[in-house]
Amino acid sequence: MSVALPPELQAAISRRLERVSGGFREGAARLSETYKKGGSAKDDFDAYLVTRLPATYAAVTAAFEELSRIAPDFAPKCLLDAGAGPGTASWAAREVWKSLDEVTFADKSGAFLEIARELASSLPAFANARCIKADVLKEDELPKADLVVAAYTFAELPESKVAAVIRSLWTVAQTLVIVEPGTPPGFARIRAAREELIRQGAFIAAPCPHRNACPIVDPDWCHFSVRLPRSRAHMHAKKASVPFEDEKFSYVIAMRGPVSSREVRILAPPHVLKAAINLKLCTLEGLERRTVARRDGGAYKSAKKLVWGGSMREMKRER
Ligand SMILES: C[S@@+](CC[C@H](N)C(=O)[O-])C[C@H]1O[C@@H](n2cnc3c(N)ncnc32)[C@H](O)[C@@H]1O
Repeated sequence: MSVALPPELQAAISRRLERVSGGFREGAARLSETYKKGGSAKDDFDAYLVTRLPATYAAVTAAFEELSRIAPDFAPKCLLDAGAGPGTASWAAREVWKSLDEVTFADKSGAFLEIARELASSLPAFANARCIKADVLKEDELPKADLVVAAYTFAELPESKVAAVIRSLWTVAQTLVIVEPGTPPGFARIRAAREELIRQGAFIAAPCPHRNACPIVDPDWCHFSVRLPRSRAHMHAKKASVPFEDEKFSYVIAMRGPVSSREVRILAPPHVLKAAINLKLCTLEGLERRTVARRDGGAYKSAKKLVWGGSMREMKRER
């Protein structure tokens, strides 16, 4: 699957980039260095639109699509986008749930909120979108929402604050989606967020098939991958030679009630051999390496369709 930006968002970004200066390449290089050191976009907002937004959009879309698959009746009306930046996650949410008609972009950066407002003005569904300048560390007041998302936001917060920020987001959320870079530190933040959510009584809808302790042991980490096309500006800014990239991400989705169907999660690309398929799974019993032999016929045929990040049904119930 390749996740492209909606045409309205792509067009709004292109219009903005035509207006502002074209020095993305330096901005992109600086931004990449900044993120490696764990910083924030600072002045490189337009480079962010070219080099990071398409990837964060794709990752959030993958998480939202999983939520929509798991909870097909979920039809959120209001969304709080915490650490919205240019509003990336809200655009992804709107693509998945046309039911959304109240969107709030919350961010501590006035510059990013201005960009979120400008991009949103091109989509009638965002006509009533609200921008609020809020610092999630200062417990600024946040509106309640059916769906709260924090996409790539915790990466910019001190590690020691993860639990406190999770508590304040969970207070206003019916359903909470956290997405982070699919790196060991990104996963560490997701794991900390998950632990706090479970302490608060949340049910984990994805990617975990349970709310037992996470069975992943260092140096392993739970992450997934999504492919996205690269625009010409993106290729130019990144000096890239292929017209796509794979964004690695980690995520957790928390809901107020139990999720009805329990499945096991595929934690790595299935390893397809001539005689068998080897799977790395997260199950109710913990991590499992499972082999499906070709002689198993139907099971082998089904296993061939499995993908990293997807899931398969088990006849077991959550404890
Ligand atoms: C990497 S950007 C992600 C933006 C967007 N969610 C996305 O997925 O593209 C992180 C965002 O978090 C915001 N942020 C960082 N610390 C924050 C805080 N304490 N309170 C509110 N927003 C914050 C930054 O201003 C920035 O917009």
